[in-house]
Amino acid sequence: MAGNRNKGNGGLMGWIDDRFPATAMWEDHLSKYYAPKNFNFWYFFGSLALLVLVNQIVTGIWLTMSYNPSAEGAFASIEYIMRDVEYGWLLRYLHSTGASAFFAVVYLHMFRGIMYGSYRKPRELVWIFGMTIYLALMAEAFMGYLLPWGQMSYWGAQVIVSLFQAVPFVGPELAEWIRGDYLISGITLNRFFSLHVIALPIVLLALVVLHIIALHEVGSNNPDGIEIKENKDENGVPRDGIPFHPYYTVKDIVGVVVFLFVFCTIVFFFPEGGGYFIEAPNFEPANPLKTPPHIAPVWYFTPFYAMLRAIPPIAGSQFPGVVVMGAAIAILFVLPWLDRSPVKSMRYKGWMSKVWLLIFAVSFVILGYLGVVSSTPTRTLVAQICTALYFAYFFFMPFYTKMEKTKPVPERVTG
Ligand code: HEM
Repeated sequence: MAGNRNKGNGGLMGWIDDRFPATAMWEDHLSKYYAPKNFNFWYFFGSLALLVLVNQIVTGIWLTMSYNPSAEGAFASIEYIMRDVEYGWLLRYLHSTGASAFFAVVYLHMFRGIMYGSYRKPRELVWIFGMTIYLALMAEAFMGYLLPWGQMSYWGAQVIVSLFQAVPFVGPELAEWIRGDYLISGITLNRFFSLHVIALPIVLLALVVLHIIALHEVGSNNPDGIEIKENKDENGVPRDGIPFHPYYTVKDIVGVVVFLFVFCTIVFFFPEGGGYFIEAPNFEPANPLKTPPHIAPVWYFTPFYAMLRAIPPIAGSQFPGVVVMGAAIAILFVLPWLDRSPVKSMRYKGWMSKVWLLIFAVSFVILGYLGVVSSTPTRTLVAQICTALYFAYFFFMPFYTKMEKTKPVPERVTG
């Protein structure tokens, strides 16, 4: 839609617009991008995810300047950053807390999409790009966690990479190929470093651009799940839309200030997050000869880890658990095709959708807790029930969304 906007008008902007569609891009994505006027609290998290992405990239660049990606030097270089590099402690805590913040805002962002049916036609690709971002983010966080070369870095990677060993036929070769060695070693650290600082950030950035282009092509959804483009005034402007800039750029600043208040409180006062953001064994250097008594991933992976542990091995193989864990993520990709409700937003869906959403969210949180603590027979049973409920939410969705009685959707967005 670049068009001829501001071409041949002279001045600096005219000169640029003759050569690059700067004005057209500014208008299409900001000053003339009409967003629904009823965005609420839940719509802060997209822009916050962008903010955290920028934080991770900027602090990551500076950390890389003093970090040493070798088995001999990695742990000591983190200590050097913490003690000797000017503001190195700040850079590191901004980055480590940023990783947790990233998942917190992305989980809330995804939950918003699920609540308001933002994955539904015509936004299926926005959702699929989002899910691909989520996968890339998990890989990025997993590889980043090996870099401090602490005990949990080492043994966490050991546990996850050995899962690939459970893949039938090619498992052992696959795990060896990922590690580049027979066990997690400096070679693994080197390749994870290169993927963490270059490959995955490029993939993430590209996916975020695609995510936003896809969103702006179809326009944003809103808490009512009404398509504002279907009701335009004589100038072709949606009656329920307001220009993204200045209205939402300014509104998003409010979200940013509140977020930064919470984020900085954690960075300055609780950077380890009570052992949830940086786990205690990671203050000890990696030791391949000493397994920590309790290995648990960082909180954002624990719901899936709990599922893995809940599924009993078959003939000593953990493969069934790996499949269930993979399926728990894969099923989210097809969400747009499971929901057959005539309405998008939870506001107008029936009681069954609401109850199932609650069951899904509660099961996910309980699994998250169970993945942190060590397992007992009772906990394993609870994890099995929660895993079953997690999947039931998706499996039954085509039925309950079709069967239930929905509420009438208003013509125009509500407050
Ligand atoms: C780096 C991570 C991400 C960034 C920077 C990001 C950014 C954004 C932004 C700026 C928006 C528009 C503002 C808003 O609606 O809040 C948006 C919308 C959206 N995102 Fe994301 N996103 C990310 C991850 C995800 C993930 C993981 C999913 C889901 C799997 C997702 C699904 C969606 C959906 C469905 C919308 C449209 C929402 C609507 O119109 O109601 N995003 N995203």
